[in-house]
Amino acid sequence: MKVLITGCHGQVGRELMLLAASYDCEAVGVDRDELNITDQNAVVQAIYKYSPDAIINAAAYTAVDKAEDDVAAAQAVNATAVSYLAEACANADIPFVHISTDYIFDGRKHGDYDEYDVVSPLGVYGETKLAGEEAVQKFCKKYYILRTSWVFSAHGNNFVKTMLRLGAERDVLGVVADQYGKPTSANEIARVIYEMLTSHKQAWGLYHIAQSEVATWFGFAEAIFAEARSQGVALKLSTLNAIQTEDYPTPAKRPANSELNCDKLEQTFKLNIKPWKDSLADVIKDLNHV
Ligand SMILES: NC(=O)c1ccc[n+]([C@@H]2O[C@H](COP(=O)([O-])OP(=O)(O)OC[C@H]3O[C@@H](n4cnc5c(N)ncnc54)[C@H](OP(=O)(O)O)[C@@H]3O)[C@@H](O)[C@H]2O)c1
Repeated sequence: MKVLITGCHGQVGRELMLLAASYDCEAVGVDRDELNITDQNAVVQAIYKYSPDAIINAAAYTAVDKAEDDVAAAQAVNATAVSYLAEACANADIPFVHISTDYIFDGRKHGDYDEYDVVSPLGVYGETKLAGEEAVQKFCKKYYILRTSWVFSAHGNNFVKTMLRLGAERDVLGVVADQYGKPTSANEIARVIYEMLTSHKQAWGLYHIAQSEVATWFGFAEAIFAEARSQGVALKLSTLNAIQTEDYPTPAKRPANSELNCDKLEQTFKLNIKPWKDSLADVIKDLNHV
């Protein structure tokens, strides 16, 4: 199977490129320079040029806070461009895999969110990602939309790398302890996408993919520092304080709870999603060897 991967230098894009061969897939990776997905003509041409059997869209406008003041750019990448990709896939009659986010929920629910829960984004990033989901559903029949959360990897910008940097620089750090979610490694997202595509189940639709178990950012930070220390990483940090969201104001509001329920994915594709602590150990190992 030949897959065209947009945003191939992002966290998930990179893992998709690395894992393709182990699923006997030929991956053609394109990032903004080779295929700017906001250019509809370029999207159509890419299908002619590469003749893929499926497209995986790992490209997105992911700067959650910046999006609040950069609405047009976020909309162009997360919504309009997704409609171009979805329409092109529908016309070529090939599957479209698209990644979405937990930030389409407002976080007011007690308990985890499944695929049938009401969506109500709190900010521009979530609104534009939701518009992207709607575009996929409007144009395509053969699609997988995968909502995920709190993505980390050894590359790009993410919470794990930020914590390790701050932990090396500072004695004391405060981390938000009243937002709940599920950290998810880019590698596990990529693995699950290939499992879905190569299963040939064609159980098209919307799925949640997040790693067990639920954490707060504070709990995630504790686990990051514990794992780093156990791997011999030198840290200056001596005190990690639990703070509240109101003590760490950000331009974009975050959901207080974005715990994703992944039963539909696990049951439909007979998959076991790994716990994030296992992936965290691998990512810190990778960072140690960079
Ligand atoms: N990161 C998270 O915590 C998180 C959480 C939930 C869901 N998600 C979703 O998961 C997916 C993957 O996220 P990620 O963390 O891997 O993102 P990422 O590391 O920010 O990578 C996104 C990639 O998209 C590229 N891109 C941006 N605009 C583009 C355009 N117009 N044309 C082509 N490429 C473009 C970026 O290139 P440049 O570097 O040139 O901009 C970058 O390589 C996204 O759909 C995101 O919304 C992420």
